[in-house]
Amino acid sequence: MSSYEDAFRRSVEDPESFWLAAAQDVEWDTAPTRALDDTRAPSYRWFPDGTLNTSVNALDRHVGAGHGDRTALIWDSAMVPAKRTYTYSELLGEVATFAGALRDQGVVAGDRVIIYMPMIPEAAIAMLACARIGAVHSVVFGGFAAKELATRIDDAQPVLLVTASGGLEPGRTIEYLPMVDQALQLSQTPPHTVIVKDREQIPGSADDYKASSAAWFDWDALVADTSPAEPVAVAATDPLYILYTSGTTGKPKGVVRDNGGHAVALMWSMRNIYDIAAGDVWWTASDVGWVVGHSYIVYGPLLAGATTVMYEGKPVGTPDAGAFWRIIAEYGVKALFTAPTAVRAVRKADPDADELKKYDISSMQTLFAAGERLDPDTYEWATKVLGRPVVDHWWQTETGWAIAANLRGLDPMPLKAGSPTVPVPGYRVEIVDGEGKQVEAGTEGNIVVGLPLPPGTLTGLWHDDDRYRRSYLDTFPGYYLTGDSGFIDDDGYVFVLGRSDDVINVAGHRLSTGSMEAVVASHAAIAECAVVGIRDELKGQRPSGYVVLKAGVDIDHETLRQELVALVRDQIGAVATFRDVTVVDALPKTRSGKILRKTMRQIADHEQYTVPSTIEDPAVLDALREQLGG
Ligand code: COA
Ligand code: AMP
Repeated sequence: MSSYEDAFRRSVEDPESFWLAAAQDVEWDTAPTRALDDTRAPSYRWFPDGTLNTSVNALDRHVGAGHGDRTALIWDSAMVPAKRTYTYSELLGEVATFAGALRDQGVVAGDRVIIYMPMIPEAAIAMLACARIGAVHSVVFGGFAAKELATRIDDAQPVLLVTASGGLEPGRTIEYLPMVDQALQLSQTPPHTVIVKDREQIPGSADDYKASSAAWFDWDALVADTSPAEPVAVAATDPLYILYTSGTTGKPKGVVRDNGGHAVALMWSMRNIYDIAAGDVWWTASDVGWVVGHSYIVYGPLLAGATTVMYEGKPVGTPDAGAFWRIIAEYGVKALFTAPTAVRAVRKADPDADELKKYDISSMQTLFAAGERLDPDTYEWATKVLGRPVVDHWWQTETGWAIAANLRGLDPMPLKAGSPTVPVPGYRVEIVDGEGKQVEAGTEGNIVVGLPLPPGTLTGLWHDDDRYRRSYLDTFPGYYLTGDSGFIDDDGYVFVLGRSDDVINVAGHRLSTGSMEAVVASHAAIAECAVVGIRDELKGQRPSGYVVLKAGVDIDHETLRQELVALVRDQIGAVATFRDVTVVDALPKTRSGKILRKTMRQIADHEQYTVPSTIEDPAVLDALREQLGG
């Protein structure tokens, strides 16, 4: 039996001893005597009698073990440009001090704190500072606009919001403070305090908002006048963070992560999936606003005692397609984790990888990819130009770490193009048909995971147990519904083909077509609309809007397109990348009124499709096909 098979078998046959053994890598205030609490199945809790502090495990523990001088975080901004390095001792100092500032503002364990920040070290410092005092952070991606921020504020009901004067995108600055101010005005439950990290490249400061109903403070002024906070031990089952992610409706889902299971799972993953140990240099090119950034820019590498690189910039154009290779060479990066879109962007700009020849990337052992499917073409190209394993792995905001992977530290297996390899120990992955019956190897179906999910996965949705059960647990009792479809081949390799719901994935960013439809439908000229995710060569998918005008409306279609694009940008944010609008006479629907989004997508992508038997008017599909040239 291979070491993978052995670990997998133990993890599912005896999860109790498997995860209690893994838990020994964590420093506990009270060591857990039990791993799984199944008393409220199908909701599960891990390490119910353990207490710990996550930031102690990420920082104090390494300093205490004599590694305070080791580099914890390297910040490299291609945008400013600027570089900064923090040792573990320095990062601990910054985190403890900012935690003191939060404490002085009245934040206590269990309070929520929204973090709306660009890719600067203070984003990680704020996250770890919350963890230190037991506060629950909720990071909102900087590419979301005021209304999306307000929606998250209303759901999480934070007492405090941490932000920066802004972010830097190629060719423009993003001023955050007007958006924060607007979000506070839109919100029913605005936080009482806002802390602003001033960036000299971007106008605006806390002083400009003295008249606001919240108290606005400058980060630097606050930390200059405070004492460090001591860490607070919390229950392993207490929430560490809420991270909002797109569901099928306009309202985002607040995925709740615990402290104990999260620490155990991430430490296990750093060693067994990524083969990263203390002292290794690790780089995740993502954003702290996404789960990949939470787990593998901030928590995972620091829990492992590694050095994490935090990059503000793009893979191309800042300044060129050699940006990734420069960073690997400059810091001796052992493994890079990014989204396939970034690799496609590099390939498009530099198809022969000429930039790569300028750098010594010999430190690099592996390229990890996730966030969307790593298409075989991109996989082959990256493997060829890098001459190293390019390892796809599949996961979701909900799981917080990989469901399927090639476990480089446990048992590296042969790679297959288009597959994230095998289920990770702890995840009983199965493929089922619409009735919940397991299908044969090679047959496509719904990808589900047998309950309980392993430690580190979501413990629920913030204050919405009903939606949690409806979204994930009710469809196939005993299983977690991933929302992805795919198959498992004869060798046990998982292939993930795409979402089976209305969630789309644009440049590795998970977006809801439902929220875009709500915005488009609010335009005065629109009678009804559908937004579907169509294939895009660079970004994997992009949203495409189909609109039916109200009777009697006469508007130039290009003018309408521009207005809708501006509306989505204003209401959701630039990250929605909403640019395509097609005016159609009618939308194809079933007799019960459900819009046939999947069929529309198939027509737009020029794929084969079967006309659903429940269709209301087949002529609508014919007209659409003619219009889209299918
Ligand atoms: N704040 C404000 N705006 C942001 C933003 C942020 N943090 N991130 C992106 N945007 C804006 C971009 O400037 C762009 O605006 P534009 O329409 O005015 O050009 C828009 O949102 C769309 O962004 P994106 O889809 O990222 O396109 P891009 O052209 O800026 O970059 C890639 C394309 C492929 C280089 C980029 O998407 C990338 O590096 N992707 C990697 C994916 C990734 O990190 N995924 C995270 C999960 S692993
Ligand atoms: P997010 O929650 O933003 O991480 O998005 C999760 C979704 O992205 C998954 O449900 C998949 O649809 C998709 N995804 C992430 N990683 C992969 C992968 N390696 N292969 C295929 N799809 C992926």
